Amino acid sequence: MRTVVITGGTDGLGKGLALHYLHQGARVLAVGSTPEKGEALLAEAAALSALDRVTFLRADLTSVAAAEELVTTIKGTCRSVDQLVLCAQRYRLFGPRTVTPEGFEHSFALAYLSRYVLSHGLREVLEPAPRPVVMNVGTPGVPLGRIHWEDPQLTRRYSGTKATLQSFRANDLLGVAFAALRPDTRIRYIGYNPGVVATGMPDHLPRPLRSLTKASFAVLATTVAKAVTPMAHLLDEPPGENFSAYRTTRRLPLKGKAFDQGAALRLHALTQDLVLRRRA
Ligand SMILES: NC(=O)c1ccc[n+]([C@@H]2O[C@H](COP(=O)([O-])OP(=O)(O)OC[C@H]3O[C@@H](n4cnc5c(N)ncnc54)[C@H](OP(=O)(O)O)[C@@H]3O)[C@@H](O)[C@H]2O)c1
Repeated sequence: MRTVVITGGTDGLGKGLALHYLHQGARVLAVGSTPEKGEALLAEAAALSALDRVTFLRADLTSVAAAEELVTTIKGTCRSVDQLVLCAQRYRLFGPRTVTPEGFEHSFALAYLSRYVLSHGLREVLEPAPRPVVMNVGTPGVPLGRIHWEDPQLTRRYSGTKATLQSFRANDLLGVAFAALRPDTRIRYIGYNPGVVATGMPDHLPRPLRSLTKASFAVLATTVAKAVTPMAHLLDEPPGENFSAYRTTRRLPLKGKAFDQGAALRLHALTQDLVLRRRA
């Protein structure tokens, strides 16, 4: 039976994919931080007679230790993982800089570090699957944001937008480095931009922006049910190349700073050092 691991699998796009794969007869491990959302997913799985194939794993992915523990749990339960989908995200576009108990800036920790730990940490169980894929769901193709090499934790001149955009670009580079480090891997790493999708994401934005985003979603956004179709297609039929990037169904050229291999390897080394130093 196919095994699909989805972070952020209890809401929005991640939940849409979780339900899709439960319909398809796969085993789904959905990760999220809110128990009620996990219970709601289990109830929907029960209605599909799929309760025996779904697992809710509660983890706060702002914590590197929690992401590492999740890797250990998944490796202890699954002999192989066919598809890893990385969706966990909570935008903090406004407000003061927040630092996790481990000392990382919030967006860097949740949106990037957790994905780094899971991508590399689950490699061993992905590799034996017949057609292993990692899909990192973010915003490839958006020409905004950069890595602040001199101060990646944004201790100086912080802004939530800057931090969010940096985490997006870090995820583009994560995919590039993952593939560059292992040219012989069987794992296909896909950076995926779903376009504008009506999820619960605006619920966590401050009030004026929340209403504006919801209003724009009503006009511009596609539904989760529609958005997961091309995602599932790519997950099931990944391209031959080790790394690729898409915006919905359009394959993106791997050009420019977002996909620069030198920068990707530099960020990989910097991140490896941060993760190792935390353990020491
Ligand atoms: N929706 C769009 O228009 C859009 C556009 C471009 C890119 N994307 C990307 O698509 C991905 C999914 O977005 P979405 O709109 O589906 O988001 P969403 O509906 O807000 O769902 C976010 C998911 O992440 C989980 N999550 C948040 N904080 C977490 C934490 N600390 N630890 C563990 N899990 C956590 C949430 O569960 P809990 O609340 O229980 O923690 C939830 O399951 C994101 O990477 C986003 O950047 C979305």
